[in-house]
Amino acid sequence: MLFKSSIAAGLLAAANAAPTTTTATGSSSASTSASASASSSPFGVYSYNQEASINSAAVASVASFAGIPASEIPGADVPVFPVVSSQVNGTASHGPYSGSATTTGAVKTTALGSEIPVLPPNPVETGYVPNGLLHNPQPVPYQPAGGLGTNGTEPVYRVQSDFDYESILLGLYQEWIELDLFHNILATFNESDFTAAGLTPSDRFLIEFMADQETGHATLLSNLLGGPGGATPQCTYNYPFTTVHEAFDFTQKLTRFGESGVWGFQAHLDSREVAQLLDQSIATEARQQMIFRQFAGLFPMPVWFETGIPQSWAWTLLAPYISSCPSNSKRLAWQNFPALTVLNQPNSARINATQGFFNETAGFGPAAPSSDPPAGQNCVGNNVTGFDCSAGISQNRSIALSYPGRKVYLEWENPGKPVGPNNSYVTSTSAKAPQFVLWVSQLNATYSPLTNITTTNGTNYGMTIQPDVSTYEGDPAINGTMFIALTDSNITYTAFNLSAVNPHVAAGPFLYQAG
Ligand SMILES: *[C@@H]1O[C@H](CO)[C@@H](O)[C@H](O)[C@H]1NC(C)=O
Ligand SMILES: *[C@@H]1O[C@H](CO)[C@@H](O)[C@H](O)[C@H]1NC(C)=O
Ligand SMILES: *[C@@H]1O[C@H](CO)[C@@H](O)[C@H](O)[C@H]1NC(C)=O
Ligand SMILES: *[C@@H]1O[C@H](CO)[C@@H](O)[C@H](O)[C@H]1NC(C)=O
Ligand SMILES: *[C@@H]1O[C@H](CO)[C@@H](O)[C@H](O)[C@H]1NC(C)=O
Ligand SMILES: *[C@@H]1O[C@H](CO)[C@@H](O)[C@H](O)[C@H]1NC(C)=O
Ligand SMILES: *[C@@H]1O[C@H](CO)[C@@H](O)[C@H](O)[C@H]1NC(C)=O
Ligand SMILES: *[C@@H]1O[C@H](CO)[C@@H](O)[C@H](O)[C@H]1NC(C)=O
Ligand SMILES: *[C@@H]1O[C@H](CO)[C@@H](O)[C@H](O)[C@H]1NC(C)=O
Ligand SMILES: *[C@@H]1O[C@H](CO)[C@@H](O)[C@H](O)[C@H]1NC(C)=O
Ligand SMILES: *[C@@H]1O[C@H](CO)[C@@H](O)[C@H](O)[C@H]1NC(C)=O
Ligand SMILES: *[C@@H]1O[C@H](CO)[C@@H](O)[C@H](O)[C@H]1NC(C)=O
Repeated sequence: MLFKSSIAAGLLAAANAAPTTTTATGSSSASTSASASASSSPFGVYSYNQEASINSAAVASVASFAGIPASEIPGADVPVFPVVSSQVNGTASHGPYSGSATTTGAVKTTALGSEIPVLPPNPVETGYVPNGLLHNPQPVPYQPAGGLGTNGTEPVYRVQSDFDYESILLGLYQEWIELDLFHNILATFNESDFTAAGLTPSDRFLIEFMADQETGHATLLSNLLGGPGGATPQCTYNYPFTTVHEAFDFTQKLTRFGESGVWGFQAHLDSREVAQLLDQSIATEARQQMIFRQFAGLFPMPVWFETGIPQSWAWTLLAPYISSCPSNSKRLAWQNFPALTVLNQPNSARINATQGFFNETAGFGPAAPSSDPPAGQNCVGNNVTGFDCSAGISQNRSIALSYPGRKVYLEWENPGKPVGPNNSYVTSTSAKAPQFVLWVSQLNATYSPLTNITTTNGTNYGMTIQPDVSTYEGDPAINGTMFIALTDSNITYTAFNLSAVNPHVAAGPFLYQAG
């Protein structure tokens, strides 16, 4: 009993252990205490309850169910830390922002260059001989030499650099919208709407449970950021869906960029401890993403690997759905690229997804869902194996949603447009005129030529051909929800250095529904 509870308490206390000062923007000295003074932060004070407590009623209920005294149940006398409180839940304020921003742009400091150079491999990394033998003395029996954070130092669960802080802050913005979105889906539609899409009461409870998971994730990330002094509150959101299928289509895309955004940076974090806990939340998010694909009647996982994307890609995808944030919110350092749209996006609610019309999307933004097609062309509730996209554990789609060689028509904006919370961020690019479409999926980042470029009234149009590339034999790389962006060059990048492409991104990313 003592053993177990001291581990748990130690972990949580460490996660709650907050910095007394932070140099995130070189300007703030934020305290973790809920009573930090307003003058110490340019964004004002954000507080939430961090006091662990014992819920006596819950403990009594457990003891009563077990039929033994609470004092004999290990852990029952250990105080539990509360979750950060949610400001927006389900039905409360949603919709677009109609004000003007008082602050604009990403947070920034001196930039030392305009591009990260592409360098040869570090020679140290080609030296280890992987031949099955041990080459160095073992620190203790059964533990091979090496690894990071393996020498006995006590784990410190907090961000360690601007890179860490801004990455986890982006993650927190993502957790907050998911918490609101999952509640909002339940609040927006009634039981018969869900039943028509193939969802049972147990399925609806699963959505509720996934929302609860998000309160836990928001709490964890708030603590990794150093508690109230480093965290940011929940915002107000604006969603592009009108039907249940559209809602799940949007949500499977939103959770896709939430998950892929983390896979893009977690291996680069300075804090291995933060990466550890973050991964344990994103493993849950990955399950959510698959469940929303199932609710949308898509094949649950049509790929062998899930991809990672740069933070600025995730922020570009997320920002259009945040209408406003409280004035004490922390601002992000990431870039918002000009918006990219696929005009002939495959419509997952169609029996034949590519049979749709141009602009067959509902709402707005780079993760806009496709609209519900008319009866007869709609696969929701179409009880024919292979042609059904009602919610299900697996729906094999006899007509693939896309195919290599498909002409993909594109539209993109010029930079300089206000986006994101309070319209306070501005789209930008440092790229020259785009010439390529970058397709990021699974383990691969591949280019196709951008052709037939025209400009009408300040909006740009072009097309490309969907490539045919594989990770390994038998696994076409382009399937599921693809990240595509326009670039001015076709420099080769791979999973671990993809963010170096950012200075070459002219527009995007957009989420192409390849399968
Ligand atoms: C939802 O938000 C409202 C207003 O902020 C609050 O009064 C209510 O307690 C919240 N409900 C839940 C279930 O969190
Ligand atoms: C343990 O490893 C870390 C790097 O992972 C290093 O900074 C630290 O000095 C090491 N501590 C000891 C006691 O060797
Ligand atoms: C459920 O909501 C839909 C609109 O989303 C409406 O047409 C229908 O009448 C509602 N059904 C019930 C039982 O309230
Ligand atoms: C995607 O994967 C599904 C399931 O294996 C398959 O039926 C479909 O043809 C694939 N789509 C593409 C574009 O390769
Ligand atoms: C699906 O639609 C596309 C585009 O209209 C068409 O080329 C294709 O033949 C259709 N497939 C089937 C199986 O109907
Ligand atoms: C699609 O929308 C774009 C503008 O967003 C417009 O220029 C184009 O004509 C539309 N295409 C169709 C087929 O409606
Ligand atoms: C689907 O069709 C099968 C066979 O035609 C039938 O047994 C089943 O009840 C139908 N399911 C629904 C949900 O309508
Ligand atoms: C599943 O769909 C594929 C096409 O993507 C098809 O080749 C296969 O026969 C289908 N399998 C079943 C069991 O329906
Ligand atoms: C693209 O341009 C080529 C050559 O300029 C032309 O042959 C082709 O028809 C165009 N394609 C579309 C879809 O406009
Ligand atoms: C050009 O764009 C502006 C602003 O979006 C719009 O008001 C105007 O009607 C457009 N003109 C044409 C010819 O489409
Ligand atoms: C895709 O990624 C795999 C794994 O990194 C690599 O072996 C393969 O060459 C890549 N394929 C292409 C077309 O880039
Ligand atoms: C880059 O584009 C050029 C010109 O289109 C082409 O010759 C070259 O093969 C491409 N390289 C890669 C890595 O795709």
